[in-house]
Amino acid sequence: MIKHFSHARTAFKYGLKTLNIQKEDEILIPDFNCDVMLHPFSQLKIKYNYYEIDNQLKPDWHKLEKLITVKTKAVLMVHYFGQPQNIEKFRNFCNKHKLFLIEDNAHGHGGKFNDKILGTFGDIGISSPRKIINTQSGGILFNNTKIDFNFPQLPPYPISNNMNIIRNYLNYFPNFKLFLKKIIRKRPLYEDPKAFRELEILDYSVDEKSQELFNLTNWGKIIRDRQICYYKWQDFALSKGLKPVYDNLYPLANPWCFPAYTKSKDESAYWYKWGWKNNKLVFSWPTLPNELIYRDSSTLDRWKKLICFSTLSF
Ligand SMILES: Cc1ncc(COP(=O)(O)O)c(C=O)c1O
Repeated sequence: MIKHFSHARTAFKYGLKTLNIQKEDEILIPDFNCDVMLHPFSQLKIKYNYYEIDNQLKPDWHKLEKLITVKTKAVLMVHYFGQPQNIEKFRNFCNKHKLFLIEDNAHGHGGKFNDKILGTFGDIGISSPRKIINTQSGGILFNNTKIDFNFPQLPPYPISNNMNIIRNYLNYFPNFKLFLKKIIRKRPLYEDPKAFRELEILDYSVDEKSQELFNLTNWGKIIRDRQICYYKWQDFALSKGLKPVYDNLYPLANPWCFPAYTKSKDESAYWYKWGWKNNKLVFSWPTLPNELIYRDSSTLDRWKKLICFSTLSF
């Protein structure tokens, strides 16, 4: 079953409800994620605990196993930047420990693994097509469970029509869009892990215009174009001494960006400034929750060195 919401975080929230996860139950989530994915936890009063991931953004399975308690009900698997995780390993792990598998493909809507759409492998899965086609709303919940759940009728996401027209037009000219942005605003502070904090949002379904665009989108073409840009950025990055996060892009993935490691936060700042100057979108990800910024962990160190080249253009 597929349900369309305004955002993937809302899809996640309703996914947790369909799994009947209760107050005080706990979900294991990776220690590298955006703050908005925590909003459903506080809204539903569900607990979470972080599991460690390595530089290829894969779990340390032994440490993950040690975190399981009687309260643990599910594990969140994130296909960072659209690159699939080892799905079979996650599935076997969850089966062994009788946990739900929650799949987050927010970055790579339309990507596949073994010819099956990413997001549909977990007991529930989410994706965020709005991030790929730049619509004002669009988040999907894939539900593979047979658990009965009555979805409420949510109001459509309130959009600005004028904004939609300008946005749709500029989506065809990504480099020109960046050039325009430069005229009207200052460079975003990508080197600040809190710069893009978002307030919690109400529950909405997708708005009609965004849904229309979603239906009209040629996803195959988008994926091909994004992959071409990914490989160009990969060659570029290697020639500049950057270290790609992944050795190879999975051939059916829809890469939201090309992620690479720099050697320091200063080198990352150099690339953010370079992108701004050259009308290329080079950005940091994610907007970290405060608890991950301030705790003593490798998360912030990784964050400072991970930069993303948008695959919307080269
Ligand atoms: C990995 C990941 N999952 C989920 C989300 C939430 O997506 P949305 O912004 O559509 O709610 C984000 C967005 O920032 C994300 O990066």
